[in-house]
Amino acid sequence: MDNKISRGLEGVVVCETSISFINGKAGKLSYRGIPVETLASNSSFEETAYLLWNDHLPNRLELQELERKLREARELPREVLKVLFDLPKDLHYMDVLKTILSLIGALDWRNSKDLYETAIKITSILPTIIAYYYRYSNDLKIIPPNPSLNHIENFYWMCFENLEDEEFIEALESCLILHMEQGLNASTFSSLVIGSTLSDMYSCVVGALGALKGSLHGGANERVLNMLEEVGAINNVEKYVEESFKLKRRIMGFGHRVYKTYDPRAVYIKELLKSVITDHNDELYKYLKIAEKLEEILVNNPVKRLYPNIDLYSGIFYSYLGFPRKMFTALFALSRVVGWTAHVIEYTKNNRLFRPSSKYIGSMHKDYTPIDER
Ligand SMILES: CC(C)(COP(=O)(O)OP(=O)(O)OC[C@H]1O[C@@H](n2cnc3c(N)ncnc32)[C@H](O)[C@@H]1OP(=O)(O)O)[C@@H](O)C(=O)NCCC(=O)NCCS
Repeated sequence: MDNKISRGLEGVVVCETSISFINGKAGKLSYRGIPVETLASNSSFEETAYLLWNDHLPNRLELQELERKLREARELPREVLKVLFDLPKDLHYMDVLKTILSLIGALDWRNSKDLYETAIKITSILPTIIAYYYRYSNDLKIIPPNPSLNHIENFYWMCFENLEDEEFIEALESCLILHMEQGLNASTFSSLVIGSTLSDMYSCVVGALGALKGSLHGGANERVLNMLEEVGAINNVEKYVEESFKLKRRIMGFGHRVYKTYDPRAVYIKELLKSVITDHNDELYKYLKIAEKLEEILVNNPVKRLYPNIDLYSGIFYSYLGFPRKMFTALFALSRVVGWTAHVIEYTKNNRLFRPSSKYIGSMHKDYTPIDER
């Protein structure tokens, strides 16, 4: 057996998949062979989810059936509501999601054998957890799910009790389609590791939520906003970059394990953002300009060329729509849950337990000293 260590598992191929393909050199991403840009512009959340879960675009009947199931599973059990509405109001949304989903999974243990049906249920309830916590923690009246609305409209409605900004809701749906799937990233791999033990789908998603929360992964989007705020003005960008390199500080929203050029999702979301932020006096327009300046400097940096990833512009976009910063990673999760669950379903059809090795570099012989003699 080759003992070579691949730090961070870079370049290690652990399974076959037909869910998505990333061409990191060309900056292209497709779901089941369809470019993500095409799906973001033409498809719906439900239709893209069906595609990822099932390997083909749904016909009308198949789509209606999925939409029905997603609408029916939106409400949270009574026992869960009691816990949710008793939580402190200053928690991070990712912690709320992990905790509440874990409880729902515990209560649903009798009905969670079927991975696909459970994936639909979990996808349906994540937006409700987020929206309910948003309303509750801001002392706002709770808005129950509305069965006449589609998945994203309903989420927006439950958060803001308003559907007037149709253009924003459509833009949000496009943005979330772009977040839905991305190969074996850290959170998807976490869900696969858990799935490979033949655990249940709730556990896979709870584990994936924990991985997504980290600042090197989905947690980068809210930190981008903190960074843009800290930079404060276009004139400070160069200094910020210089300092970051000197201090070995990661610049949030840049770099990627697979894309070695522009992340196509970043390109799409930047254009989306430019089309919605029309007021140039808006504070967020200033942030957009700072982000663009960062991009210009880092993409042209001769020593360490860094390209923007999906998180550079998504946070500004979410802020513009009125979502709080602490919710950004949870917005990512409500979409990526489809990718996580699609991979678990695919992998476990031809399952083998994940169990890598490590190279032991510790002592081989050490005497046990009784505690009083240490
Ligand atoms: C995403 C990320 C973790 C991928 O990292 P990776 O493939 O493991 O690459 P490494 O961490 O090994 O970094 C390779 C080199 O690029 C540098 N680098 C990568 N991303 C960087 C960033 N955002 N800021 C500054 N330097 C960065 C590293 O410092 C390292 O330099 P070195 O070789 O001189 O030590 C990394 O790019 C990152 O930390 N980005 C910021 C967080 C972020 O935006 N995450 C969202 C990802 S979608």
